[in-house]
Amino acid sequence: MFDFNYFTPTKVVFGKNTESRVAELIREFGGSKVLIHYGGGSVVRSGLLKRVTDTLDEAGIAYVTLGGAVPNPHLGLVYEGIELCKKENVDFLLAVGGGSAIDSAKAIGYGVVNEGDVWDLYDYKKQATGCLPLGVILTIAATGSEMSDSSVITKEEGLVKRGYSSNYSRPRFAIMNPELTMTLPDYQTACGCTDIMMHTMERYFTNGGNMEITDALAEGLLRTVKENALILCEDPGNYDARAEVMWAGSLAHNGLTGCGNDGGDWMTHKLEHELGGLYDVAHGAGLAAIWGSWARYVYKDCLPRFKKFALNVMEVEDYGTDEEIALSGIEAMEDFYRKIKMPTNLRELGVNATDEDLVLMAKKCAIGVGGEMGSAKVLNEEDMLAIYRASM
Ligand code: NZQ
Ligand code: ZN
Repeated sequence: MFDFNYFTPTKVVFGKNTESRVAELIREFGGSKVLIHYGGGSVVRSGLLKRVTDTLDEAGIAYVTLGGAVPNPHLGLVYEGIELCKKENVDFLLAVGGGSAIDSAKAIGYGVVNEGDVWDLYDYKKQATGCLPLGVILTIAATGSEMSDSSVITKEEGLVKRGYSSNYSRPRFAIMNPELTMTLPDYQTACGCTDIMMHTMERYFTNGGNMEITDALAEGLLRTVKENALILCEDPGNYDARAEVMWAGSLAHNGLTGCGNDGGDWMTHKLEHELGGLYDVAHGAGLAAIWGSWARYVYKDCLPRFKKFALNVMEVEDYGTDEEIALSGIEAMEDFYRKIKMPTNLRELGVNATDEDLVLMAKKCAIGVGGEMGSAKVLNEEDMLAIYRASM
């Protein structure tokens, strides 16, 4: 077991109609002039944005709005948001939407507080010294950004997608009403469930410092999301299933399922970020498309964990050699992806990459991780290329 810090300062307000408490929460955390940041318009169409602005009007809290955060959010809009906040003396950010709106808001928050180009944080050139306080009204259960310390931004020039993490950006509050996720297309619900599971799996497939309590939490979370993702395929309006998945999304990425571990593997995410940057695919779908190839490439170097996953999460039969059980677990996970209509390779993802493209992604990925990375197995550029090739 490794030593760890567990820091989750986000106040969670969970349940039906909780968005009606937004003004009270902004006040509680000291906001007096708010930037409401959102995505491509789902919150306008659902009427949520109007309900939020009506609530702030009634409470006498001043605000400006900025929409347009796209999936794989762009640096250009972040710069626009920073300018707007400075011009309007904004002291609090409210992200209304999913991971993209939240991450874009976090980047804006960094840009307002830290001198110089905010991209320097994402380009490993400097560290943040603060971030504007941020609150969230979540509309999709997926990234866990509502409690996480991370923000992932794409720089349009060169299509470079990078993450930056610091505790400064952890949201002050997260309003989570599972009903708000009921307008999601089925594809986005499945992408979200995939991402939630992957945040726990990245921390689970490690070669260091595992704890029984952490494993039990992780395995329970994975089984719960698996079951409820299948329920939502048949019955997207099922409130309880929406609620299970939504809370799992936060717990999967607030650090809980990594306590005592060595920090996790994270290579599936790093490999996916190149796909997201270059082909603009949905993050969860990209993860599903790459995971099987990654798993088959590394499982022999992390066999006890793959066996445990097969037995305790995928609930395969305890029969055969450890390698056979591990492989059955990987196959069972891919079967699950097929059931929720997620891709299991790049072609199914709709990416017809040339070998040159794969070489480029492996190169960018290796640069992004500083040469090599991984815990289940440490991967270098050559390994990354082999996984991309296997996933075609
Ligand atoms: O943009 P709008 O119009 O709102 O539509 C969104 C978008 O098209 C739509 N949507 C969201 N809630 C909806 C809805 N449509 C109907 N009804 C609703 N209630 O769904 C689409 C996806 O939204 P997005 O915010 O992009 O999804 P997600 O939450 O999956 O965020 C993905 C981004 O987060 C990054 C990903 O790489 C990607 O850029 N990640 C952030 C992390 C973090 N900050 O901790 C960790 C993750 O590993 C991930 O990398
Ligand atoms: Zn993710």
